[in-house]
Amino acid sequence: MARSIIVTGAGTGIGAEIARQAAAGGYRVGVLDLDEAAARSTAQSLPDAEALVASTTDAQAVDGALDAFGTPDVLVNNAGIVRFRPLLEHPEADWRAVVDVNLTGPFICGRAVARRLIAEGRTGSIVNISSINGIAPGPNSGAYSPTKAGVIQLTRQMAIEWGPQGIRVNSVAPGIIDDGMSAPVLADPEVRATRSARTPSQRLGTAADIAQAALWLCSDDADYVNGHTLVVDGGVVSTVLAGMPRPASIDGVAAGN
Ligand SMILES: NC(=O)c1ccc[n+]([C@@H]2O[C@H](COP(=O)([O-])OP(=O)(O)OC[C@H]3O[C@@H](n4cnc5c(N)ncnc54)[C@H](O)[C@@H]3O)[C@@H](O)[C@H]2O)c1
Repeated sequence: MARSIIVTGAGTGIGAEIARQAAAGGYRVGVLDLDEAAARSTAQSLPDAEALVASTTDAQAVDGALDAFGTPDVLVNNAGIVRFRPLLEHPEADWRAVVDVNLTGPFICGRAVARRLIAEGRTGSIVNISSINGIAPGPNSGAYSPTKAGVIQLTRQMAIEWGPQGIRVNSVAPGIIDDGMSAPVLADPEVRATRSARTPSQRLGTAADIAQAALWLCSDDADYVNGHTLVVDGGVVSTVLAGMPRPASIDGVAAGN
């Protein structure tokens, strides 16, 4: 029987690409999204997929989706939102909404799938989509960076609690991805060009880069990888010291080099 996967937030962006690559890899796919039209459109474009309309923050709705689809072998907690505003002006409602979707949602969905896998005596794998913002805070990103750091720790917490029951849990931390929620930022041609040039790999990331990493972590090839966060960012988070001034003489670099 085909392995099954549920991808949350798979109506658009990175989640839709994870769903597409999973389907190409032979998975039966559950496309879970609160945007019904988007969920249906992704599911209809795939060979063996079902739209599951639910909010990841609603435990009852998530249980309903699992009743309809069955317990998946793999869960990708991808749904996420961002609300940009300096902390001093950040509305509480925005803060709570981001915490709810980005941190509570993966807990609710992960718990629901793990409970069922354990009750059915099956093993499985979960991948949580974090962000490099969970490692290096993004300016004016409000609760987004703290929640993405939380996703990295939630991943480790799930891994130590559920590993003994045969459920591996890992995370992917995407960098600057030319898709989904980054679209408004990357619509500015100068921002786009500068971000690309400052990335050691000299390009923006794609949804396909993230999907490949997520599906590798779910696969048997990653059988001994557990509690890990795989940074997929072309090297961006490693550039933190690159912008700091240094006297050229220290490095024996001739002036002008
Ligand atoms: N795009 C990037 O540059 C980038 C970088 C780092 C991390 N990420 C992370 O990747 C993930 C996907 O982001 P994206 O860029 O594809 O964004 P996106 O906005 O294109 O997609 C998010 C999807 O999640 C759905 N969604 C939102 N709240 C939901 C909920 N409560 N229940 C169910 N579905 C819900 C939306 O309807 C949408 O289809 C997010 O977790 C995001 O934080 C994105």
